Amino acid sequence: MAQEEGGSLPEVLERVGALHGITDLGQKLQFYDRWAPDYDQDVAALQYRAPSLAVDCLTQALPRLPPTALILDVACGTGLVAVELQARGFLQLHGVDGSPEMLEQARARGLYQRLSLCTLGREPLPSPEGTFDAVLMVGALSDGQVPCSAVPELLRVSKPGGLVCLTTRTNPSNLPYKETLETTLDQLERGGMWERLVAQPVDPPVPRMASSPASSTYTGRGGEGCGPRLNKPWLFQF
Ligand SMILES: C[S@@+](CC[C@H](N)C(=O)[O-])C[C@H]1O[C@@H](n2cnc3c(N)ncnc32)[C@H](O)[C@@H]1O
Repeated sequence: MAQEEGGSLPEVLERVGALHGITDLGQKLQFYDRWAPDYDQDVAALQYRAPSLAVDCLTQALPRLPPTALILDVACGTGLVAVELQARGFLQLHGVDGSPEMLEQARARGLYQRLSLCTLGREPLPSPEGTFDAVLMVGALSDGQVPCSAVPELLRVSKPGGLVCLTTRTNPSNLPYKETLETTLDQLERGGMWERLVAQPVDPPVPRMASSPASSTYTGRGGEGCGPRLNKPWLFQF
């Protein structure tokens, strides 16, 4: 359903709505496998800004993060976060994802020094304790994707004083997950594991379209337009 092959915005929204309806992790990763070749065009049509927002959030919180910083992109997908990181001069990038086909797309970009297949929630990250200066996870903290129980794994592989930047969605179907996530993050903070530096709500974009999609995942506004609630970046330091 690449845009140049005739995929329309309603079709893209329907596809994303179907994705959000899948709560089984294995099925979700298979969906990503099939979506991988068209993912970039489809999310561009949705004005998906989470990768640039997260990287902005990271670099604004720590403007002196050196270009030599070793950064892990968790649930890297096709590598859109790496594109943003490279544009800001960061070149030491590792990525992990649970979808082999998404990883293939990321590999084709040639921006990561290392890419690994890893399913968060089922297995640990393939890195020793205290490896990374910064860890990002963009677009994967939601129901049926990365479970909240995997968050401590991000801390484990971060260096002391390292940064962890996370995003989640605020659309109604994701609210129960987001609540659990916030509880998890608060518990880790109360336990002295990390300190919250930034929590930044983000307004959703409103892509123009001719008619509303039949998807409860999005906030429709009559026939005027609708769009996904954008991810909400958090930045934690511990
Ligand atoms: C919406 S995409 C986001 C990709 C990329 N971070 C971006 O912002 O474009 C979500 C990605 O998370 C991956 N994913 C979902 N659940 C996962 C899990 N439990 N472990 C590893 N990867 C997962 C999917 O394969 C997919 O590539």
